[in-house]
Amino acid sequence: MHLRKRRFTIPAVFIAALSAALGTAATSAASAATAQASTTAQAATAQAATAQAQAATTARRSAPETQPPTSQSYNGLALTPPMGWNDWYQYRCGITEDDVLANAKALLSSGLAKLGYDYVNLDDCWMAGTRAADGQLQADPTRFPHGMAWLASQLHGMGLKLGVYESFGDTTCQGKPGSYGHYQQDADTFASWGVDFLKFDYCGVPPGTTSASLQADYEQMSQDLKATGRPIVFSEELPVAAGDANPANANYLPYVSLSSQISNMWRMAPDETTNFDSTVFGHLADDLPLATYAHPGAWNDMDMLLTGTTGYNWTAQQQETQMSIWAEMASPLLSSTDLTSMSATTKAILGNKAVVAVDQDPLGRQGQLVAQQNGVDVVAKPLAGGDVAVLLANPSSSPQQVSTTATAAGLPSAGAYSVRDLWTKTTRESAGTITETVPAQSAMLLRVSALRGPGILRYAPFAAVSASADVPPVYPGSQFQVAQPGQTIPVPAALQNEGRLPMWTATLSVTGPSGWKSSGKPATALILPTGKKVSGTWQVTVPPGTAAGTYALTATARYRWGAGRSASDSTQTTIQVVVPPTGTPTLDQLSWLSATNGYGPIGINKNYYGGPLTIHGTTYPHGLWVNSVATLYYYLGGNCSTFNVDLGLDDSDKGTGAVDYKFYADGTQVYDSGVVTNSTPTVHASVNVSGAHVLELYVGEGNGTISYGNADFGDPQLTCAASS
Ligand code: GLA
Repeated sequence: MHLRKRRFTIPAVFIAALSAALGTAATSAASAATAQASTTAQAATAQAATAQAQAATTARRSAPETQPPTSQSYNGLALTPPMGWNDWYQYRCGITEDDVLANAKALLSSGLAKLGYDYVNLDDCWMAGTRAADGQLQADPTRFPHGMAWLASQLHGMGLKLGVYESFGDTTCQGKPGSYGHYQQDADTFASWGVDFLKFDYCGVPPGTTSASLQADYEQMSQDLKATGRPIVFSEELPVAAGDANPANANYLPYVSLSSQISNMWRMAPDETTNFDSTVFGHLADDLPLATYAHPGAWNDMDMLLTGTTGYNWTAQQQETQMSIWAEMASPLLSSTDLTSMSATTKAILGNKAVVAVDQDPLGRQGQLVAQQNGVDVVAKPLAGGDVAVLLANPSSSPQQVSTTATAAGLPSAGAYSVRDLWTKTTRESAGTITETVPAQSAMLLRVSALRGPGILRYAPFAAVSASADVPPVYPGSQFQVAQPGQTIPVPAALQNEGRLPMWTATLSVTGPSGWKSSGKPATALILPTGKKVSGTWQVTVPPGTAAGTYALTATARYRWGAGRSASDSTQTTIQVVVPPTGTPTLDQLSWLSATNGYGPIGINKNYYGGPLTIHGTTYPHGLWVNSVATLYYYLGGNCSTFNVDLGLDDSDKGTGAVDYKFYADGTQVYDSGVVTNSTPTVHASVNVSGAHVLELYVGEGNGTISYGNADFGDPQLTCAASS
């Protein structure tokens, strides 16, 4: 089942052998990996996700010292990053032949196939539970009744390609027959079916595996595929993606280096989760030091695109951010959604031609970190023809201003540059400086070109517009800055001309959503030459009665340029409005301020599998399911007195999980359940939360090691005043 899909069986001797074989000092890595050896995959995923979440907000890792020895495609394939679709995050083990064909048709009808999305890849579970008598792999007879050769011919008839999945070991991650002992046979089978792509996973590790044998195994499959004579893209997952994704770990870079020589793409980060920060910014942090390993025919694989995927309720901006980062890092672009019902947003994101062109640029360079400022990564990807794609990635939870220059991004010195925002599709000319306010947890993707001669006259000057709402923290020291209805918030804003041409009659103003009052006169300048600025502070009032939510404030600059042409540019900042709970709500009826979960989406009134929340046979119509480690924050606004809840592992998972629930009121611990396992009787907690503004619910691992607790909050009820 999903929650315990991968078991690491790397013996300590393996680590030692690995270090010896690869000539690396691995003492601390060995103990870390040994500790990991007894954990489940999901544990590793969450552990890595947690580590990544931290990494994403702290320093990025430095670049590796080693360079890959060659920069050829080992089999002549994948000269640009493969693009297409993979079923995994949407369908998991329920995937059927009908789903595959329906998605393939959607690739054609949506126009995505024309843009390059042409691989249709099956992940785990396409195969039957056993091999045929002659040892041959066979498709699951129920879900793929026509078999793989038929499916391949259907897809080929549509101008598409078929990818399949296997694991190097005894079993796949879902316990299906692995390839171990059958490499040549499987490669031949795939070729005979007309398969075009193989994802080769790291699961079912055979006993006695050593670093040398593992490398030999992957090289063997790499060669066996090549020997079939059929062009088959080799996509692999060495342990780099299995909780080991840390360049500080001695295993890591040698694996990446090997992968870049014997495969077309390799997963370099753990499985994705619904946690946007660890998945998108965590994978970016992991991938930045690996830039030099990517080359035409060999790509760092950041995992799939999750725009539109069920359960991944990321905003459009977050989905664009993933797409921007994947393109800048020249990652394969494999959508994992139900394309048959994709929204216009998903289609526009996957189908953004200019962004796809950055990913698919024929130069085949991965973006490299050129600067970090206010926590924002400035990443530059040189493109064929001399342009540079500049990614500004802000992992922090507040908007950040970042300023870089065209020359820092690698462009030659020129009188002016065009800067095109590949999402808003506007182009401006800059004298050389590029200043942007990057929204919280977002990235911007710009295409920068040197302008020659009269080219400068074609675009409006680059307006650097900035604004930030000075919202006070909920309580001193809190990470949450929230406003209540009726509150007035100061919002400083500025406009600076970064164009070569002057701006005329420039004005700047700040507005809230419709119905909000913003007082303060527009800041104006009759002429704003290069490098000059106007600024002001506006007072924005959240109207009484505003519902809880996040609201955008917009700073807009309007100006004239050239011979009487006008332009406007804007930036947005947000205010989170909260309303204290009243009466006796259960937490399923409230929105959290923020929440992270160890695995999958937090279940509201349902467990991971969609069933009712049940602890020791008692069903709770109201409550939450989480997977450790999870943290949820709720705004109480000082209006509540007690919190009552039943705690215990959900009956749907009778595993070895052990958790520890800890609650905090305004950062001070007010409750600790101690270790809760499946044999612990239901724990009833009644906690005094009087005066607290924020209630934090933390579900950690109960036994020191990561063991994946599927923990419930049964009937989690607050008692609050009738009105705030
Ligand atoms: C591993 C891989 C995933 C997916 C699953 C299938 O977890 O990392 O991408 O292939 O196995 O079981």
